[in-house]
Amino acid sequence: MSSNIFKPFKIKLEKDRPYFWCTCGLSENQPLCDGKHKNSEYKPLNFKVEETNDYFLCGCKKTKKQPFCDGSHK
Ligand code: FES
Repeated sequence: MSSNIFKPFKIKLEKDRPYFWCTCGLSENQPLCDGKHKNSEYKPLNFKVEETNDYFLCGCKKTKKQPFCDGSHK
């Protein structure tokens, strides 16, 4: 995936499937968790969506609407 973690990621998500959004910023599979938070204080955010669609997930980790982009990266 892109190495620029500060921009939102457009990603297709499937209805009712569990996803884990990376909150620590260390994952190499942004914007999703790959387990790299293990030795940090962070835990991934477990979420689901109600319909299969393209979504913009936050890459800068400053959003107030986790895990979705709210424009805070600007
Ligand atoms: S790798 Fe960042 S929260 Fe898991």
